Amino acid sequence: MARKMKILITGAGGQLGQEFAANATLRNDEIILWSREKVDICTDDVAEKLALAQPTHVINCAAYTAVDLAENHKEQAYAVNAEAVKKIALACSTLNIPVIHFSSDYVYHNNLRSPLLETDPCRPKGIYAKSKLKGEKLLLEHHPYPVIFRVSWLYSTFGKNFPKTIAHLASQRPELNVVRDQVGAPTYAKDLVEAVLQIIRNQKTETDWKAIRGVYNYSNEGLTNWFEIARSIVRFRHLNCQINPIPSREFPTAAPRPRYSKLNLSKFKGTFGIKIRNWYDALEECLGKLQTKDH
Ligand SMILES: NC(=O)c1ccc[n+]([C@@H]2O[C@H](COP(=O)([O-])OP(=O)(O)OC[C@H]3O[C@@H](n4cnc5c(N)ncnc54)[C@H](OP(=O)(O)O)[C@@H]3O)[C@@H](O)[C@H]2O)c1
Repeated sequence: MARKMKILITGAGGQLGQEFAANATLRNDEIILWSREKVDICTDDVAEKLALAQPTHVINCAAYTAVDLAENHKEQAYAVNAEAVKKIALACSTLNIPVIHFSSDYVYHNNLRSPLLETDPCRPKGIYAKSKLKGEKLLLEHHPYPVIFRVSWLYSTFGKNFPKTIAHLASQRPELNVVRDQVGAPTYAKDLVEAVLQIIRNQKTETDWKAIRGVYNYSNEGLTNWFEIARSIVRFRHLNCQINPIPSREFPTAAPRPRYSKLNLSKFKGTFGIKIRNWYDALEECLGKLQTKDH
């Protein structure tokens, strides 16, 4: 019989946190949901609160994710994405429990043009990206067996994200301009959550966790760009909206975006033996679920 787990999820009100909550509940695992309102991970007593909750695993979904706002809120971004991660690392290390954490393709930003490897240089440009890399480093320094997933272009039926925004706007407007010169692959949060829960289940001992310790890329398979994703959304939804390709320079943002975000998934697939589906199939499923939710 599968071991009963008590998984504590921080940032439970965010898109990934809500996806974990939905999926873990379905599977009958015990979960403790820490939304920001319930526990702010930046507070000094986070270690005491973790000890009191007695989880078997911690999944850190809390993050400062306002990429452009972060440029003017450096302290806040570092407090959540780096310093709080260190606190969680130390607390989980003391409790001797695994901690799973998420980072971003933005940490690479290295101008390479071949699928990015976990060992490739990291040259993050904006505050968000820099604070996420700092968080990774602190976690690896202060916990003996953390597992970190660097994900690209996350979306879900929950929260705010690009596919939801496009599906909405394209139902209201005759045309939309969307950037074509940033390439990568989106990550359906549901696929990521299922993979992470399977990985957690498969690691029975501390030795197992030590064997997989480290950083892993994760996204859906394939290579695409925002323009193509937007066009697919219009097609799936049978919307009457023309999507026009534009270069990034016509859509300036406070924080620079990497042009190339395609992640090499070999380490993830080789280590965990988990298949990853194509971005297009995952997106189609998510849009179908959204439609059911909306009606
Ligand atoms: N979204 C993407 O495209 C993307 C891409 C790559 C990687 N990631 C990474 O994936 C992870 C999950 O992202 P997401 O898209 O689920 O983000 P999200 O929807 O913004 O969720 C983050 C959650 O963390 C909460 N939070 C912020 N500060 C907190 C604090 N001090 N204490 C407790 N909770 C706090 C937020 O609450 P409030 O809403 O109240 O602030 C929010 O509910 C993050 O590590 C992110 O960096 C995301």
